[in-house]
Amino acid sequence: MKKIAIIGTGYVGLVSGAGLSDFGNTVICADIDIEKINLLKNGEIPIYEPGLKEIVQRNVKAGRLSFSRDVSKSIRDCDVVFIAVGTPEGENGTSDLSAVFDVARAIGENLNGYKVICTKSTVPIGTGVRIIEKIKNYSKSEKKFDYISNPEFLREGSAVKDFLWPDRVIIGASNQKAIDMMKDVYRPLYINETPIIQTTIQTAELIKYASNAFLAVKISYINEIANICDEIGADVHVVSKAMGIDGRISPKFLHPGPGFGGSCFPKDTKALISTAEMLGLNLKVVSGAIEANQSQKSRMVKKLMDLMNNDVSEKKIALLGLAFKAQTDDVRESPAIDMIDALLKNGAVVNAYDPESNANMKKKFNDLNVFDSWEEAVKDADCVAIMTEWNEFRGLDLAKLKELVKSPVILDTRNILSNADLESHGFKYDNVGRK
Ligand code: UDX
Repeated sequence: MKKIAIIGTGYVGLVSGAGLSDFGNTVICADIDIEKINLLKNGEIPIYEPGLKEIVQRNVKAGRLSFSRDVSKSIRDCDVVFIAVGTPEGENGTSDLSAVFDVARAIGENLNGYKVICTKSTVPIGTGVRIIEKIKNYSKSEKKFDYISNPEFLREGSAVKDFLWPDRVIIGASNQKAIDMMKDVYRPLYINETPIIQTTIQTAELIKYASNAFLAVKISYINEIANICDEIGADVHVVSKAMGIDGRISPKFLHPGPGFGGSCFPKDTKALISTAEMLGLNLKVVSGAIEANQSQKSRMVKKLMDLMNNDVSEKKIALLGLAFKAQTDDVRESPAIDMIDALLKNGAVVNAYDPESNANMKKKFNDLNVFDSWEEAVKDADCVAIMTEWNEFRGLDLAKLKELVKSPVILDTRNILSNADLESHGFKYDNVGRK
């Protein structure tokens, strides 16, 4: 087992650090965000991620996992250094790599012996070579290091599970010594024969974008099929089920909805297009998926306006769910943002309840009224819209809902309610491809 430094304790760095310590490695998670590190040192978890608190506490107790504000010392004390800092969207679809290059500099300045440097952050194709250059430029000694691209495929809401039981591990490297060290780092996965794909650095970087962009294309595809279903009265769930039985298609990521959000698909699809443009290529399929996704978010607004006869002025609209998906408190690029923005601009009063992300969305919209229960949020509402597929909304008590609202009108953007139940309770409703 190895001594590992993880630089960056966001949901990728913290989950990866906890997972790697669970594999038996000694892991130091370091971050320049002193407040975040203090929280972690006090046994608190700064993000909502199912199962994360337990795995962190177990490994801190076992003495395998610790936290540090001192990035430089953490680098000096470890054999393997993971770069896991954020790479937010920059200008015209490119990625802001400033945090990554700051870490590369710190690594160069603290290279006190042979180390394997491993990038887990999602970085544009070709960044690995630039990180290697930065490290060399800042390292005064001739100390050797090897570089690895090891992209992550963690979904928010199931990140711990996705780390501990991945479908595959991608290792992009240029020499066997570094690959062997990584196999030691991931020993439990290696022993239980999780597929480990060894390839070049650039290929590993491309695999990450190719995978995410394909999933985004798949989602936009089924959303457009759902829109056809709206017009011809077909049931998209039957179409999706029948498609998914075909092994070449698979049923996963074939659920229509209000459009994809989150910190990855929107950013990674744009970054892939930006990279392709620099190579003189125009990615029509991925561009189409991005365009279709924005249209889908706008279509949800149109559906609600249609339900309200295009007049929401001074009407009370209650949103159930704000997060970009269930099991997370993350509202980045959430379809609820487009909905709230349009409703406020059209003079509506907007109420909302989300079990985890009220506070995060309230930071974006001061005029949003957030509540601690769905019952309070829907009180006297002229229309309700389900924006996130939290389990508590799947079993919504429609009789109770009807008593609480002013008018029984509902838009189910996640297709989690039964049409028959809505009709038997006298609701006027719409959804996505299930007329
Ligand atoms: C994604 C990738 O799945 C993961 O591999 C990568 O590392 C990070 O980005 P994440 O964005 O956390 O993970 O969530 P994911 O479950 O992939 O959902 C992304 C978006 O697609 C969400 O807005 C979700 O609601 C939407 N989605 C997903 C659909 O609309 N339909 C689906 O069938 C699946």
